[in-house]
Order: sequence, then C-alpha cells, then structure tokens
Amino acid sequence: MDTGMTVGEMLKMMRDPLGAPFFPPALQALLVATWVLHIFFVTLALGSSLFAVYAFAQQRSAFALQLGRLAARLTPNALGLGIVTGIAPLLFLQTIYDPLWYTANALTGFWSVGFIFVVMGGYSLAYFFYLRGQHDRRLLFVAVASLVLLFFAGWIMHVLHGVSIRPDRWMGWYMPNGVIDTRGITFHAYNVPRLVFMLPLQAGLSLAVVLQFVAWYLRGRSNEPAFLDWVSELGRKLGLSVSPLYAVTGLAWALSEGPEFGATWVAAPLVALGLALMGWFVWLRGHPQRRAWSVLVWLAGLLVVAVVREALRVASLARFGYSIAEYPYQIDWGSIAVFSVTTLVGVAVITYLALVIYQAHATPDGQISLRVERLGKVATGMLGAWFAFFLLVGLYTLLFLR
Ligand code: HEM
Repeated sequence: MDTGMTVGEMLKMMRDPLGAPFFPPALQALLVATWVLHIFFVTLALGSSLFAVYAFAQQRSAFALQLGRLAARLTPNALGLGIVTGIAPLLFLQTIYDPLWYTANALTGFWSVGFIFVVMGGYSLAYFFYLRGQHDRRLLFVAVASLVLLFFAGWIMHVLHGVSIRPDRWMGWYMPNGVIDTRGITFHAYNVPRLVFMLPLQAGLSLAVVLQFVAWYLRGRSNEPAFLDWVSELGRKLGLSVSPLYAVTGLAWALSEGPEFGATWVAAPLVALGLALMGWFVWLRGHPQRRAWSVLVWLAGLLVVAVVREALRVASLARFGYSIAEYPYQIDWGSIAVFSVTTLVGVAVITYLALVIYQAHATPDGQISLRVERLGKVATGMLGAWFAFFLLVGLYTLLFLR
C-alpha cells in the first residue's frame, strides 16, 4: 500500500517526541553490553535444563545423575538471573529503538503477551522439578515441559527481534492482501540458523564453561576429586564438540541474513569466534589450571555476538537512511542521577552477595572475611539510604507538587 511516506520518514515520525534522556550511542553501547549478561544466563538455564533431562532420562552413570541434580538446581537460579538481566537491555531498547520494539510487539501481540506466561510456566516447572522431581524419573515430564517452554520463550524473543529489524515489511504483515490482521499470532520473521546458533548451541557453550568453573570452584571444599575431574572433562568435551558447529551455524546465519541487510561480512567474526572457542577448549587440555577463565572467554565471545546483532540492526536501518545517532535527545540530569546511584548501589549489593556466596563455599569451614563483612554493612546502608530517599521524594511529590 502506498502511504506516500518512506520507511525512513515513518520511523522518524514514530520516535518518542520527548527524545532520549541521554546520548543515544551511549545507550546503544549499554544495550549491547547488558544483553551479554542476559543471553549468558538464559542460555545457561537452557543448557542446565537440557542436561538435567538427559541425566534423569539415562539413569546409567552415577556421576551424570549427581551432576543432573546440580543442573536441576542451577536451572531456576540461572533463569532468574536471565530474566532480571533481560530487563536492562529492554529499558535501553525502549529508549532508542522504540519505533522498532513497539511495532514488533503490536504485530506479534498475541505472543508478546503470551511470552510472560510462557516464561512463568517454564520457570515454575523448573523450580518444581528441582524441589520434587529429583529422586526418580516419574516427574521427568515436568523437566521436559519446562525445557520446551524455555526454548519457546527464546523463539518468541527471536521473532520479536526479527520483526523489529524489518520495517519495510511491517505494512504487509499488518495488512496482508489489504485486510488488516490484528490477531498478532503469526511468527512473521525468523531465521533458523540464527535460532539454532542463539539457543541450543549457545546453551551448550554456556553449560560447558560453567562446568569448567564449577570443577575449579568446588575443588577446595569437595572430597570428590574424581567427580570434579569428570565434570571438567565433560565441559571441555562439550565445548570442543559444540564450537565447530557454532562456527558453521554462524556462517549459515551470516549467509542467510547478511545479504538482506548488505552485511554478509558478519560471517568473518562469527566463524572466527567458533574457531577461537574450539582453540580454547583444545588448549585447555594441557592447561587445566586455567579452566575457570573459560567463563570470561565465553563472555568476551558473547560480546562479539552482541556487536554482530547490533551491526545487523544498524545495517538494516541504514537502508532507509535511519540511524539512532540522529535520535533526538535531551540530557535529563534527574534521570541520569537516579540511574547512576541505583546502579552504584545495586552493583555494591550484588558484589557483596557474590563474595559471600563465593567465600562460603570456597573453603571447608566457609569463613567470610572481615573485609567482605564491612562491604556488606556499607552496601546495605547505601541501599537503606536510597530507599529512604525514594520514599521522601514520593512524599514530597504527594504533599507539595500536587
Ligand atoms: C526463557 C527466557 C528467555 C530466553 C530463552 C531469551 C532468549 C533471548 C534470545 C535468544 C534473544 C536474541 C534474539 C535474537 O537476536 O535473535 C533475546 C533477546 C532479548 N531478550 Fe530475551 N530471553 C528470555 C527472556 C527474556 C526476558 C524475561 C526479558 C525481559 C525482561 C528479555 C529481554 C530481551 C531483550 C531486551 C532482548 C534484545 C531484543 C533486541 O535486541 O531487539 N528476555 N532473548
């Protein structure tokens, strides 16, 4: 349908008239960086869920069953972190890519609402299986159902993103053959290699690096060195077998989606990443003392994927002369101050919690150091003060700014 308006003009008109609250490229960088944590934790949840299902289904190896129990416990924890860390990129996305995100959500309305229930179901079933299902195989179907829902949630995410980066197709999807379709039920855009790359393969790699980390971390408190060696080697072998597939699937993703946006060059970083990871898992065989580093190596790898995703979005929008560098903005010091202090307080509290968990399990007696205790006092004090500040601002607004 001819609206007399170009796609670029349409996108510009859909922007928030108030503008972004900060320099758009800085928000873009934060979107990319925070998404790395999101995808790490959700794929870890998928990987551990998959392993738990495998371990409880096979019932042969005692080590696999023991690790399966740990994996069943890890799944809801990792998923919780994945959901929380999904909110950060979502906020940045909404400030600079609002025309894209809201349109994709409207065109896929049924599923963007359904997504919440799918995630809730996946989480609840994973938690139920961890609490009740670990003794025998009777409740295995619960773990399988959770895995299916989690995978489906990731698929919905992928579709929302795929729809959002194709603004030239929106009118056709909204009004196929001239008839408006408001059901929002169709999966308008997805790319199978990208989906396989994002979900099952990254799930395998996230699990592989965490197995390396677990084996290294538990060495101090566990009296089961044979089990930990097995875990470590399993992680390494898993990484070694998934990474070449990752390179090949990355290539397939680049060749299928790249030409559409004139960005086939993304094949180079994706293939290089898969090969570099393969090299890492080979190298690790001779350097087992470095296995804990696998997590950092993998996070760096996910940053490459995050940049590639962003490069594809930028390339897609550039076709219509649209760039977020031109997104209007108005520096809003109030929101920046609230954002910065909340981040500072949040990071302090999370650092404290992470250090307590780390130290509690790092030695057999689980001693927490005085320095960490002191950090805890400062961090919780800051949190209390910040709550009090919010309460006072609320009361002030209520009483004096009406
Ligand atoms: C089981 C739960 C989830 C899974 C498996 C999952 C998986 C994914 C995947 C695979 C992508 C990348 C899609 C692509 O590039 O093709 C993605 C992107 C994203 N996810 Fe999730 N996700 C989950 C839950 C959530 C939740 C609960 C939130 C928000 C609170 C969230 C926020 C985001 C955001 C903001 C993006 C980036 C979208 C974009 O750049 O356009 N995710 N997620």
